[in-house]
Amino acid sequence: MHPAPTSTEPRSCRQRRLPHRVPDFAFDTETPPIWTPLHPELACIANAVSLMMPHVEPLIVRTVRAATRELGDEAPNSSSAYALQELEHQRQHRRWNRVVTAHYPSLRRVDRLIRWWYRMIGRRGGLGAQVAFAAGSESVAYAVARWVERHADELFAQADPAVAALFVWHLAEEVEHKSAAHDLFVATGWRRTQLWFATFAAVVSLAGLTVIGATPMLLRTRRLLSPAGWWTLARWSLSFAFSELPNIAASLRRDHHPGQFVDPGWYATWLATSGFAQDPVRSAQLEREAPGTADLAG
Ligand SMILES: [Fe+2]
Ligand SMILES: [Fe+2]
Repeated sequence: MHPAPTSTEPRSCRQRRLPHRVPDFAFDTETPPIWTPLHPELACIANAVSLMMPHVEPLIVRTVRAATRELGDEAPNSSSAYALQELEHQRQHRRWNRVVTAHYPSLRRVDRLIRWWYRMIGRRGGLGAQVAFAAGSESVAYAVARWVERHADELFAQADPAVAALFVWHLAEEVEHKSAAHDLFVATGWRRTQLWFATFAAVVSLAGLTVIGATPMLLRTRRLLSPAGWWTLARWSLSFAFSELPNIAASLRRDHHPGQFVDPGWYATWLATSGFAQDPVRSAQLEREAPGTADLAG
């Protein structure tokens, strides 16, 4: 087990500006959808997660904006920048999802299922429950980022650099805005049971939809019936469960703040050297954009 190290630094010192980066990833229709040739299982899992992003992230953005409007001056400063980062994530994943589904047309049915699922989640409970879902989802995303950072050498060995950059950029920004949804949840009135249910829903959604989305790709790549494939999937699943589920559980404590976790340093270094541009015009456009869940044609 790898409990996340904690920090005693005052929270105010750890507040960071959240830039809206607009990357231009150099993948296209010629890029192989199984972009991790040494570990095809990783591409299958990551592509399945990517399919969820154009559905779950707009849901989070609508929630953040509704809560921000309701709170007015009481809303945390980070909220609008947090929403911009999430909007850009789902926009970039939509690009990649079109490449993947061109190779695996059966994933269009999975995409419709994912859209239905997150629409159903978006109709459950009031604004407090939805903000709790955003906070729970961020705890899960942060846990995934921590696990990936520790296994990056194995996971990304010989990976397509453009697609690997998409996923590393996304995880790096998840680390960057790890506190934004939690701070919003606290501002709207922290309720423990809401956070428990919402975090459980976030974990179950991620795990269940990943299995459903990855299965067609694992079948086509012959990894589903391969002992080596099963061994790899079992090893990664157990490693994630033992190292990160305790940290997700710790995030449910009343006295917890995400800033108490010490971030893996790799992501900040990676972002600093990425050279991704910021585009104030694009940021202003996205500020005005009303995010709907986008299917693959969107
Ligand atoms: Fe995101
Ligand atoms: Fe996020």
